[in-house]
Amino acid sequence: MKFIKIISAYLIMLPLVSCQSTPGDASSNVDRNIETLLKEMTLEEKIGQMNQISPPEDLSQIVDLVKKGEIGSVLNLVDPEAINALQQIAMEETRMKIPLIVGRDVIHGFKTIFPIPLGQAASFNPELVKEGARVAAVEAASQGVRWTFAPMIDIARDPRWGRIAESLGEDTYLTSVLGVAMIDGFQGDNLNDPTSIAACPKHFVGYGAAESGKDYNSTFIPERTLRNVYLPPFKAAVDAGAATFMTSFNDNDGVPSTGNRFILDQVLRKEWGFTGFVVSDWASVSEMINHGFAKDGKEAAMKAINAGVDMDMVSGTYVAYVKELLNEKKITMQTIDDAVRNILRIKIKLGLFENPYVDISASSVLYAEEHLLKAKEAAVQSAILLKNDNEILPLNESIKTIAVVGPMADAPHDQLGTWIFDGDKNYTQTPLKALQAEYGDKVRILYAPGTAYSRDMRTEGIAAAVNAARNADVVLAFVGEESILSGEAHSLTNLDLQGAQNELIAAVAKTGKPVVTVVMAGRPLTIGRDAEVSEAVLYNFHPGTMGGPAIADLLFGKAVPSGKLPVTFPKVVGQIPMYHSHNNTGRPYQGNETMLQDIPLEAGQTSLGNTSFHLDAGFDPLYPFGYGLSYSTFSYTNLRISADKLKTTESLTVMTDITNTGKYDATEIAQLYVQDCFGSVTRPVKELKDFTRVPLKAGETKTVTFTLPMEKLAYYNLDMNYVVEAGEFKLWVGPNSQEGLKTAFVVE
Ligand code: BGC
Repeated sequence: MKFIKIISAYLIMLPLVSCQSTPGDASSNVDRNIETLLKEMTLEEKIGQMNQISPPEDLSQIVDLVKKGEIGSVLNLVDPEAINALQQIAMEETRMKIPLIVGRDVIHGFKTIFPIPLGQAASFNPELVKEGARVAAVEAASQGVRWTFAPMIDIARDPRWGRIAESLGEDTYLTSVLGVAMIDGFQGDNLNDPTSIAACPKHFVGYGAAESGKDYNSTFIPERTLRNVYLPPFKAAVDAGAATFMTSFNDNDGVPSTGNRFILDQVLRKEWGFTGFVVSDWASVSEMINHGFAKDGKEAAMKAINAGVDMDMVSGTYVAYVKELLNEKKITMQTIDDAVRNILRIKIKLGLFENPYVDISASSVLYAEEHLLKAKEAAVQSAILLKNDNEILPLNESIKTIAVVGPMADAPHDQLGTWIFDGDKNYTQTPLKALQAEYGDKVRILYAPGTAYSRDMRTEGIAAAVNAARNADVVLAFVGEESILSGEAHSLTNLDLQGAQNELIAAVAKTGKPVVTVVMAGRPLTIGRDAEVSEAVLYNFHPGTMGGPAIADLLFGKAVPSGKLPVTFPKVVGQIPMYHSHNNTGRPYQGNETMLQDIPLEAGQTSLGNTSFHLDAGFDPLYPFGYGLSYSTFSYTNLRISADKLKTTESLTVMTDITNTGKYDATEIAQLYVQDCFGSVTRPVKELKDFTRVPLKAGETKTVTFTLPMEKLAYYNLDMNYVVEAGEFKLWVGPNSQEGLKTAFVVE
């Protein structure tokens, strides 16, 4: 890179950089420092702090801007030497000596790639998710990145939406818990530790409700639903100390988030007391012109600043217009000062003033052995066993030959998933390679992919796959999606397996050999037909660098699946949106409805006895939220609660016994759901309120105890008050959102 040469002179002058952190930053000190800086800063320097750029390839082009203090942040720069050199200019050659903050999308790992967030969510394991984010932070910080644009905590109930891959699924509570875990992992115990990176919960807010699952599309979320479903993970993020927030691209009910004063000022600042800074999404300030919400860049900048967007990601409109807007009194100095205060506060808290540089001489932590092991464990816990007829899994000694087919068996790039800017496929361990390395001496492996990649329509290779199947005891079919088929701007209307994958599975199944279908994808796919002809289905959202060894261990029983679905799997796209915590209709589905083909010819029309369902798809999903099997089996017995009448200030103790009734030591994820039977507005049929992972030896019984404070039942009611309404509640504890032991209690 040209710039590196130009700035190498700076590097020679660099003092020996110490990465020692300084003692804790009492907030009064932080405030004093901010005010001292603010007093000295010119308007241009203030606007500079509010300006984030994505640097050009030739970094020398921005040296002058940095020198003048016109850039406060850069994103997408990951070369530590270049970062240090730019930082040195900011620290030594600018008037105010304010460090840059360097941001990057570190979404599910930096170099060591963990399962995509949707996969991690299947672990229902906050500790593991936190450790994954910690690994990502350690690796990213070692390269000079001190700010990640994560976690993505959009509630995602539409698998057509490609960005569901980046989400933690459909459930508000699960997303809140795991989002906080990620923030804790990224930010560590103290932001000013050199391995800590600032988190940026996104996208604020409602982005996941894009109409028809088409990315960037409008949303229409009424305030009550916004407050009850979409906002809680963000509120939890503020309470967890998230340093920054990012606005979303969508307009909700006509107001783009980047110009939405209600969510950015009223909710985020006034109601929640957020003290970090808000960054726009990429050019989302100027995109308000396309939305038709601002007539030009100047009006867009005005609306964004006045709404509460402190930093402009790359649109350049703040730099171009803030001065003019101030002169015209369309924004106030107070608003600018507040934005700069918010940004400086985080830079101070990150310790960037004391430790602006990354220690290049430190030994590399990238792809460290313990990082790879953590990524493997995460991939193990993210896998969901959806079907296992005749206990075909785990594979036992009777299996002498396996046929490995399918385009995902050896797809080092594609198993990493979306947002892997820095991940290197050369480090990926694929299932094929892992099976060969770990089990190749015990079983014969016949590899015939059948199709080359997931969209491949060509069927010529299928004959070889069928041949391999005939000569094997079992077929392992690795199918799914290439990584590019999910993620930003990659939405779909057809969620069947792409290309000729469906034909491939059907063809190998026809041989009569048992087929174990292993799916690696960025979203729930409509795999009903494929599951039907498969003996077993192991679903992995893109599992990352260590997916191969994790899957190999699961297939051979070295590890036992424990994942549960963080999102409902529809049978067909037409059922979407489909999620477990929907409201009831006045005519709920009864289970004995007449389906399409059973309707008599010329049947007379009547609405009597009719219910809410689809004639051609019924009511149920393919697999419900929370579902997932194990090689073992579990029984739930003896559900008891500490009281059947409680006050709103009290807590309910809920206990149940869970027995591992199978042959394998295994972990069960027990889930607690509640229904508020009658409310001032209609309430969801079930809401997840708690969950716990329960490791159980074969034959072992444990008593699981949940404490349910009644305040967890609060919601925004008819009058938009956040209250626990008195009345009857149902409660379930069970293995998924559709099964479980049931009881009831009353809140007085
Ligand atoms: C995405 C954000 C991302 C940003 C920076 C945008 O297109 O919506 O999620 O953080 O780019 O890369």
